[in-house]
Amino acid sequence: MLLKLYSLCLLVLDCISLVIKTALLLLEAMYHLVISPAEKSVEGEIVLITGTGHGIGRELAKKYALLGATVVCLDIDKAGNAETMAMIADLTGAREKHNRNANHQNGAHHSSRKAYAYECDVSDRESVMKMAAKVKNEVGNVTVMVNNAGIMPCKPFLSHGQQEVERLFRINVMAHIWMFEAFLPSMIENNHGHIVALSSMAGICGLSNLVPYCASKYAVRGLMEAMSEELREGGRGQNIKFTTIFPFIVGTGLVQKPKLRFPNLLGIVSPEEAAQRIITAMRRNQNEVSIPPALLYINNISRIFPSKMVHLVKDFVDSGCEAHV
Ligand SMILES: NC(=O)c1ccc[n+]([C@@H]2O[C@H](COP(=O)([O-])OP(=O)(O)OC[C@H]3O[C@@H](n4cnc5c(N)ncnc54)[C@H](O)[C@@H]3O)[C@@H](O)[C@H]2O)c1
Repeated sequence: MLLKLYSLCLLVLDCISLVIKTALLLLEAMYHLVISPAEKSVEGEIVLITGTGHGIGRELAKKYALLGATVVCLDIDKAGNAETMAMIADLTGAREKHNRNANHQNGAHHSSRKAYAYECDVSDRESVMKMAAKVKNEVGNVTVMVNNAGIMPCKPFLSHGQQEVERLFRINVMAHIWMFEAFLPSMIENNHGHIVALSSMAGICGLSNLVPYCASKYAVRGLMEAMSEELREGGRGQNIKFTTIFPFIVGTGLVQKPKLRFPNLLGIVSPEEAAQRIITAMRRNQNEVSIPPALLYINNISRIFPSKMVHLVKDFVDSGCEAHV
């Protein structure tokens, strides 16, 4: 009897503590709606990005390098990656020159920036493991990993071939798992790190002409959420942060035939702007961010309404991708 009473008291105390803590967290979230959270520094971090030979990945690499991070650029496209390296050298060289002049005047020390390129097919586990060993040897422990590389065949479901779907899943999903395997252990060991993944609005709601792609981007979202939960509950690596990004359409050419009824409202974002939003989300330790930001909230709210009503609004907005072939 006494034991039962004691357990009941503990449960009541737990409930009170839960209510107070959730209320405080709600207040904190509301405060951050008005005042943005501070952005952490990435200076001195080793940032590895996949798919840096073009598009969003290239812009991310340039921006992280300018922020003082050591950047590790991975791509299957050696020539594209070399172009990115040249761009980084130009940008950081110009910045260094400017800093040297300024520092020379006030006697301060300047830090040098570094970028490394590796040719790697991220869908191939063996290539990933070989590259990871090289990076550890030549650069050091990766502390920020951005899983960005992805492909997007766009056509009706029955027009997709078996090999194409399997390749899509190897690049868009399995690559994330190989990268986790390769780089998560050192992050857990040091209890320091950040993992960023490019999902898509196609990982939030189903879109026509993109059935396998949607499935792959839903998988990325699930992977990220489950991994961050496992670390949070497991007690090891609790300082490792996770940021999942859900862009709508970014002007990299990946979406060849965008369908936009209201381009001013739901338009194409430049790769530069997308990269800036991704880095800001990462530096603020945000878990999930869509580009544009309102889309995630609109989706969450729409899910409580009857699906027929949502379809009506979706048909009115009439935006997405036309089949590429
Ligand atoms: N562009 C968009 O509208 C859009 C929208 C939502 C989500 N996304 C996602 O953002 C990410 C980047 O898209 P993007 O538009 O910059 O694409 P992109 O085609 O411009 O660039 C992708 C890069 O990934 C590289 N890559 C492809 N397969 C690879 C492999 N097996 N190994 C290593 N590198 C490989 C390519 O060589 C290329 O350099 C993708 O995951 C994409 O699904 C893009």
